[in-house]
Amino acid sequence: MTSIDLTGRKALVTGGAQGLGEGMASALAAAGATVVIADVQDSGEQTAKALGERHGFVRLDVTDDANWASAVAATVQHLGGLDILVNNAGVEITSLITELEVADIQKMLDVNILGTALGLKHGLRAMRPGGAAGQGGAIINVASVAATIAFPGISVYSATKSAVDRLTRVAAMESGKFGYEVRVNCVYPGLVPTAMGIGLANGMAAIGVYESAEAAVGAVIELTPAGRLGQVDDMADAVVFLASDAARFITGVGLPVDGGMGM
Ligand SMILES: NC(=O)c1ccc[n+]([C@@H]2O[C@H](COP(=O)([O-])OP(=O)(O)OC[C@H]3O[C@@H](n4cnc5c(N)ncnc54)[C@H](O)[C@@H]3O)[C@@H](O)[C@H]2O)c1
Repeated sequence: MTSIDLTGRKALVTGGAQGLGEGMASALAAAGATVVIADVQDSGEQTAKALGERHGFVRLDVTDDANWASAVAATVQHLGGLDILVNNAGVEITSLITELEVADIQKMLDVNILGTALGLKHGLRAMRPGGAAGQGGAIINVASVAATIAFPGISVYSATKSAVDRLTRVAAMESGKFGYEVRVNCVYPGLVPTAMGIGLANGMAAIGVYESAEAAVGAVIELTPAGRLGQVDDMADAVVFLASDAARFITGVGLPVDGGMGM
């Protein structure tokens, strides 16, 4: 947990029902921000309740443009503004390139790229001067160490996370050029044993990249100078930092939070 103070800040976290998004929402709340969790899973409502009464939940499919418009409007109304957007929702479907299924490719393109692009669109519109919130702020996109390395079994996922990285940098440029007063950065998390992270390790074993999920985890740790997997708090603290005034001169970067795996 960081000692950063986000008192009075208003944050929206996509994919916040569980996993890294839940941890990011919790860390932002612990730093003093008021948080709305957005997710396709209605369990996000319980996650938000567990954070405390002042926090909220909105149902959002990040691939749906109209849903974004209504979710951001509802969030601005609930919070009385919007200063921080975390585009965290994402999906990973492990496959060798020779076995790729069109539906799986499409799913990852939709959630990871389209979802992030729409989040940037609606977040910037709301946060820029004259927007529904209008006070500027910070957007943090969640890419992956997969955007910085070549690991077997996650080709399309890696490509979508490289796209998140580029979206981040162009959004930061446009924000500066047009005076939106919004910093836009992304993080590259290393492997964290959330539902997705465990699924990825199991998937690696299922497609024959490693003998077992344990061997896949062992290989990742072997490639990681810090000598361990990531934890949810490692990612959440980095997001709190990028959202805060401590990062006031940082925009358009991708911050590795991977124990050195991607260097
Ligand atoms: N866990 C890891 O090892 C790891 C590593 C690097 C990057 N990441 C990235 O971190 C983010 C969170 O991953 P996680 O490990 O918490 O995964 P997770 O599967 O545990 O949680 C993902 C969340 O996103 C939500 N979601 C999925 N599709 C959605 C949609 N269309 N609209 C709204 N919400 C949707 C899910 O309901 C879920 O709550 C993802 O972008 C992932 O790619 C994870």
